[in-house]
Amino acid sequence: MDFQIKTLSTAQAATDKCDALIVLAAAGASPSKDVIATLVADARKSGDLGDKAGKVLALYRPARIAAPRVLLASVGDGKPASVRTGVLAAVAAAKAADPKRVAIVFAQPTDAAGLRSAVIAAADASYVYTATKSKPEPRSIRQLDFGVADSAALREAFGEAAATVAGIELAKEWANRPGNHCTPTMLAEAAQKLAALPQLKCEVLGPKEVQKLGMGAFSAVAQGSAEPLRFIVLRYQGAPKDEAPVVLVGKGITFDTGGVSLKPAAEMDEMKFDMCGAASVLGVFRALGDIRPSINVVGLIPTCENMNDGRAIKPGDVITSMSGQTIEILNTDAEGRLILCDALSYARRFDPAVVVDIATLTGACVVALGGVRSGLFASDDALADALLEAGEASQDRCWRMPLDDDYAEGLKTNFADVANVAGRAGGAVTAAKFLQRFAGDFPWAHLDIAGTAWKSGAAKGATGRPVGLLLSYLLERARQGDARPVPRKARRHAKAR
Ligand code: BES
Ligand code: MN
Ligand code: ZN
Repeated sequence: MDFQIKTLSTAQAATDKCDALIVLAAAGASPSKDVIATLVADARKSGDLGDKAGKVLALYRPARIAAPRVLLASVGDGKPASVRTGVLAAVAAAKAADPKRVAIVFAQPTDAAGLRSAVIAAADASYVYTATKSKPEPRSIRQLDFGVADSAALREAFGEAAATVAGIELAKEWANRPGNHCTPTMLAEAAQKLAALPQLKCEVLGPKEVQKLGMGAFSAVAQGSAEPLRFIVLRYQGAPKDEAPVVLVGKGITFDTGGVSLKPAAEMDEMKFDMCGAASVLGVFRALGDIRPSINVVGLIPTCENMNDGRAIKPGDVITSMSGQTIEILNTDAEGRLILCDALSYARRFDPAVVVDIATLTGACVVALGGVRSGLFASDDALADALLEAGEASQDRCWRMPLDDDYAEGLKTNFADVANVAGRAGGAVTAAKFLQRFAGDFPWAHLDIAGTAWKSGAAKGATGRPVGLLLSYLLERARQGDARPVPRKARRHAKAR
């Protein structure tokens, strides 16, 4: 898809020969008197176009407008969230006529946040999955032009938004692929492809290397699968080398059967989405390569399948993690925390400024927060606040959950240092408490995206979340020059990898 930004008043938009013209109108009167502004004002007066964001009025060949189809879309108060609602509704309505070129014009001046929101929403509404269709329906919308009062002032925001879209779409693409078209090996190849982008590097470890590192927990999950595991290390360097990086860790279970603690058959297909954390990390790096902010970021992706097999782990097995802690596996379906704990131990060698892991970790988080907000757990208030803020700014929201030590009680066992599950109560929190044991002393946050990473039902598919949230956090951090050089005193290994 081709995105462009243009300086376009509503008067100029009337002469634009696109297939469909979407006019984003905020509540309140516009001072302009051109044909489009007058249409909007009339529709408002008659009550046909309400003030509520998301209301769309479709017109066919209205007089003195070049585009054959015009959609007046209300964006309410004009704030980013309302712009998103309006654009989603308008693009969905426009798609019915299969337009090739769509122009979206703001009927009133907008700011960077409003434009970003419009671009990301328009891309969201027009995404089409094709990877495993024999006759891929081409994405009908080929070109999307965004008309604003002053394009020069918004060019940077537009570039960021377009890069974010590329990241979100890469994440959706890999997340939507079924398990046999998205193996750990294929995921690693996708990561390696990203290394062609400027300032980006990728290294991939296999079973032997992972074993040698002592990643007994990660190896244990992978041992029941015929597909070899991969440990992906991505590095983006946008700041001086000695600046401490943000480390992102993404859960990459390409399919989760539950293992011996087998999942029920209904909806098990959705467990192909169990690598959405990994996909979001790939998406973030795709965007970083475009935007090139002054920050250092490391991406770690432990990826494997969780399968049932003669060699698979069994309930009661005790394994030794990279940290040295022994773990009793009471439920083989709690595999995400097992692959993440070793990745968190590995993160230490980068002397990270912060570590954020992203995982479709628990069904309990879906019960707690549904599909609206991701669960946020953090050992550090400043990091929690920054992530909450980034979620609001990108409309990719999260909600802070507790980490009281009392929640860890149920993880105690007689046979190892820790068990991999506690009881049913507070399942999202006890999972986070398990991870926290491996998060070392760096500021750490955990995003449980089990409810937000994909949609079920008729609109089944990946959402690309939380790429928007993570990018918003990283770009803000780069802007604030937050990533000051940190003395590398805590270095345990002679060489950073
Ligand atoms: N990938 C699942 C979590 C999940 C389940 C996400 C359903 C979205 C929808 C994870 O590996 C898992 O199976 N977790 C278990 C943990 C339990 C055994 C303590 C769960 O949530 O049931
Ligand atoms: Mn599982
Ligand atoms: Zn899982």
